[in-house]
Amino acid sequence: MRIPILAANWKMNLSRREAKNLVEDLLKVAFPVQQREVVICPSFHLLSEVGSLLEGKANYGLGAQNVYWKESGAFTGEVSPTMLRDCGCSHVIIGHSERRGYFHETDKDCFAKVEAALQHNLVPILCVGESLEQREAGKTKEVVLGQLQGALKGQSVSSGDKLVIAYEPIWAIGTGKTDTPEGAESTIAVLRQELGNLFGERIAQQVRLLYGGSVNAGNVDALMAQPNIDGALVGGASLKAESFARIVNYQTQASLAN
Ligand code: 13P
Repeated sequence: MRIPILAANWKMNLSRREAKNLVEDLLKVAFPVQQREVVICPSFHLLSEVGSLLEGKANYGLGAQNVYWKESGAFTGEVSPTMLRDCGCSHVIIGHSERRGYFHETDKDCFAKVEAALQHNLVPILCVGESLEQREAGKTKEVVLGQLQGALKGQSVSSGDKLVIAYEPIWAIGTGKTDTPEGAESTIAVLRQELGNLFGERIAQQVRLLYGGSVNAGNVDALMAQPNIDGALVGGASLKAESFARIVNYQTQASLAN
């Protein structure tokens, strides 16, 4: 069974005080049951502080939003996997479309970052997703499969629970336009199939595949009801304790029936 992951990508937001208030509020209202994981991904300057607030909290993890693949040295402005571990990180987002778009990160960069994360026991949350033009040209699956292969083909993955993929269509990020649950499911199912080609069926069935792009309190239940969607990577709605708590406490079909 794959344990769902509800991940918060705070992007470049929040002061230390705001972050502290948000995490304290969240811990009062979000109750990840044993079979749910929550990962908070703040900006670098908040990692230690948020890590301390989450220390000892069952089912909560800490993630960075980026990593460099070298261990140490003259790489001004970069942060290594060892440094992330030192701050208490368990996860790291790699290849977010904002990094690919604004900072020209390539699939080759993503490969090196995923490799470095895996070697340092950090769970990579590898992001893939198509632009609106690519979608309208019917190229969604081709684009996301290319990104998946580019970052993963040739990696050594010993266990599927050490790898997370987030499908985030670029046109759905921060726009209020979500992919339909069926549309997201169909793309994510294709990604899982490709993971089977790359690493074998056992590992493919262990990897958590998340959907991201305007996930909110109102659409999370329907997305999470899809068989291949194992969680959400949430931007805007993760910046408010109430909305992110509702996402963490999403309702399953079984709980709605009760
Ligand atoms: P929004 O939830 O704000 O659309 O952002 C999604 C995202 O980019 C998460 O990584």
